[in-house]
Amino acid sequence: MNRRGFLKTATAAGTVGFFATSPVANAVAGSMANQNLMGFTAIAASTADNITVPPGYKAEVLISWGDPLFKDAPAFAQSNDAKAQERQFGDNNDGMTLFPVSDTRAVLAVNNEYINPEYLFAHQGKAISADDARKSQAAHGVSIVELEKVNGKWQVNLEGRANRRITAYTEMEMTGPAAGHPLLETNLDRTAKKILGTFNNCANGQTPWGTYLTCEENFNGYFASSDDKKLGETYARYGLKNNDWGYDWYKHDERFDMAKHPNEPHRFGWVVEIDPMNPNSTPKKRSALGRFKHENAALTLNDDGHAVVYLGDDERGEHLYKFVSRNKYQAGVHTANLNLLEDGTLYVAQFDGKEGETHGKGKWLELTFGKNGLTAENGFKDQASVLVFAREAATQVGATTMDRPEWVAVHPDNKQVFVTLTNNKYRGVRDSQPLNVANPREKNPYGHIIRWRPMKGNHLSDEFEWDIFVLAGNPEVHPEDSLMAGSDNINKDNMFNSPDGIGFDQAGRLWIQTDGKYNNKDNFAGMGNNQMLCADPESGEIRRFLTGPIACEVTGLTFTPDHRTMFVGVQHPGEDMKPSHFPDGGNSIPRSSVIMITRDDNGVIGA
Ligand code: FEO
Ligand code: CA
Ligand code: CA
Ligand code: CA
Repeated sequence: MNRRGFLKTATAAGTVGFFATSPVANAVAGSMANQNLMGFTAIAASTADNITVPPGYKAEVLISWGDPLFKDAPAFAQSNDAKAQERQFGDNNDGMTLFPVSDTRAVLAVNNEYINPEYLFAHQGKAISADDARKSQAAHGVSIVELEKVNGKWQVNLEGRANRRITAYTEMEMTGPAAGHPLLETNLDRTAKKILGTFNNCANGQTPWGTYLTCEENFNGYFASSDDKKLGETYARYGLKNNDWGYDWYKHDERFDMAKHPNEPHRFGWVVEIDPMNPNSTPKKRSALGRFKHENAALTLNDDGHAVVYLGDDERGEHLYKFVSRNKYQAGVHTANLNLLEDGTLYVAQFDGKEGETHGKGKWLELTFGKNGLTAENGFKDQASVLVFAREAATQVGATTMDRPEWVAVHPDNKQVFVTLTNNKYRGVRDSQPLNVANPREKNPYGHIIRWRPMKGNHLSDEFEWDIFVLAGNPEVHPEDSLMAGSDNINKDNMFNSPDGIGFDQAGRLWIQTDGKYNNKDNFAGMGNNQMLCADPESGEIRRFLTGPIACEVTGLTFTPDHRTMFVGVQHPGEDMKPSHFPDGGNSIPRSSVIMITRDDNGVIGA
């Protein structure tokens, strides 16, 4: 079957939009015709243990796991204990947002997703003591750090008053329909509102009212059960099993033992809102946005002022969501906006289209108790149960199973939205995940990016039009006309797999980061290490911009307001004892790091 034919752009001049025939492309054609959107020279794939960027660009380390966040915090050492880690930058930095304060001051909020026990502990995680478990918890969460620009260069300000660590035991408040609900009640918290901690904070978002959104992803991996009683269906759907993923927290912190606290896992898998400027503020979990393996939270303001948040659930065969706030944003009325995410309506996406086509229409299906079969007969008791078990609710209403929705990004024109579908080895393999029009490739080893456009540019619309922006692939090892070769905007010079982090800059360049296979052979030959690319959303052209060190994932991006410094995350270099010594070199253990990218001529990044 020649599916690639559908993806061809019929252009010799290179000026016709990718998917020129699709409604999405037509709607934007001409609105942003910028022949020079990308002005840098594409770089080659790399397997080196360093960062490479285009000629005229420079990449430097801003901060790495274990670096002090306070003047009195110890310097990094693998032997640092839990107390030290509480005062240091967390591990495995992922999504992040820069909050500007002035031309020379800013606050950077960064997720610390998880740990690599093989590097966090000298014993490589083989015997987790109580202090080890506490150190592991302290290496998770969020790091907030003030930056200052000194002699033209951004650096960490250890005296910044916003500097803060949020960890797996920082006190938080549950808000929205699930707050105070029996499903969240435990022996340790009868209020069902006072949650301790956040962890596996994957990607992020930010609001126009100056808060940071951090998203709890693989929370299931931290829970275990000290008895072997069978956990019910609602646990299975979230991947909760009797064994954890090896963190061993439950052995030292009974909250993580589901035999003792069966409702504790209901208190994770949420989006958390944090005021990054106030180190004493209590983070708020926003139950109205649903419980699942949240990837990021792409917030946009609809023309009428409603806050709209697009959300991916990163699991094979799970779904894409949209939240619409009940109230409207009020410019300049700070207190009116602070709880906009407390109350609203959650929807889940259903993609439609003709078999064999790579575009179509779609619908947002409402996840409100009493509607669309979300009733007592089908096991839902109230709105809280719909939100706590959002995955079951999505299935009930007929949502489309997706190939692991990772980040969502809203184009600065506010009319197009993009989502990465990173890969899915079960697609077309498991009965529950048959091929569908939006996820058309069996086992999908390379991933793809879908974009959609809400009807009439109204994010409140229940309908949208979509197409596939890029189908990643390898045209060097698969026949040109096979789906595995990828879409027509993939070639031997820009191949990649497993798109994950995405984000737009102000000019509308789409930055694409990968979390894929880096063995550089077979299906992945020629792709090298994980990388970051830049795309022109109109022409579909994609150029490689950055390559990361050995065994890393590139994830997390944010810019200074002048777009002359870009911050990019390098996560888990050298994972599973792969031979990386990034960034310190020599025989050092590798450390996840935030990287600063600048241009030698101080120009705008990517231009
Ligand atoms: Fe933490 Fe789905 O990536
Ligand atoms: Ca990710
Ligand atoms: Ca990923
Ligand atoms: Ca990751």
